[in-house]
Amino acid sequence: MGEQAENVTSADSAGRWLARDRDAGRDSADRAVLTGLLADIRDRVLNAARLRPGHDVLDLGAGTGLLTHAAARVVAPAGSVIAVDRSAAALAEIRTNEARIRPVVGDACHLPIADATFDRVVARSVLIYLPDLRAALREVARVLRPEGLLSAFEPVNAGRRHDANLDGVTPDEIEAIDRLRRLSSPSAGPMMAFDVAPFVDAALHAGFSTPTVGETTVTERLSTRAHVDAHLSRRPHPGAASPVDLITRHLGADTTARYVTAWYRALDKAVDRGGITFTNPVVYLTAYLGTRRYGHG
Ligand SMILES: C[S@@+](CC[C@H](N)C(=O)[O-])C[C@H]1O[C@@H](n2cnc3c(N)ncnc32)[C@H](O)[C@@H]1O
Repeated sequence: MGEQAENVTSADSAGRWLARDRDAGRDSADRAVLTGLLADIRDRVLNAARLRPGHDVLDLGAGTGLLTHAAARVVAPAGSVIAVDRSAAALAEIRTNEARIRPVVGDACHLPIADATFDRVVARSVLIYLPDLRAALREVARVLRPEGLLSAFEPVNAGRRHDANLDGVTPDEIEAIDRLRRLSSPSAGPMMAFDVAPFVDAALHAGFSTPTVGETTVTERLSTRAHVDAHLSRRPHPGAASPVDLITRHLGADTTARYVTAWYRALDKAVDRGGITFTNPVVYLTAYLGTRRYGHG
């Protein structure tokens, strides 16, 4: 296997992933948990953005509009929300009958938008995908008005861990699988390496005042074989292949069978503690452009 990214992505993979792949194999209880988690994140990002009626807002990497619709309700009737995403299929899901929502297909690193257009930029799980974080935040700074505010949530994937002990899979195989995952889509590498310090550094370099950073941890539990199957068969992000597909394609069906069995065994050993636990650090970052500090005022 060469060190090239798998060519399984297209800009429009996000539409299908958000509408279908993200939920693949989840039962109704799991879906409810995910929906609740997304609603909590949405509310925290928008509250931190201090939206007011009349604000002009950019939802960067808006996808199917999780933040867009809620932001539009706050800024109405005079404000506006421009939802930018490179996936036209995702943007097609956005309800434009709500006042002053405009979907725009575009690249977050080269926004098709004039300088100083917005009072607020909001983003959820988008900056992780961008190959050059400093350039992306310079672009955010360019389209914000003076003293405009950025409010973003991102998963800190560099710190993502699980407590499964995968007996029967060698350290070399684990490393090979990790490498395959990093190459599984053009954005998988930056996404898996995303960390807080470079994020803060990129914001400071783009001209934001010292950001307010809220770090917390989201846990996810695999407590049944169905959960394990779903985890191993699901595309982890737009454009990526599932772990089972990746391993089968590059390391063969025998390795896949041993890998899946190792997860089942790890689950059996984890039953007493409620299953295999993933811990995902996440970060909320808020910062004004310029010198104004984000405090309580
Ligand atoms: C995990 S989804 C999040 C969507 C939305 N923010 C939400 O909260 O549901 C990531 C989104 O980022 C978009 N995206 C990734 N790279 C992008 C880029 N370079 N320019 C614009 N959008 C991008 C994808 O198309 C996808 O819709």
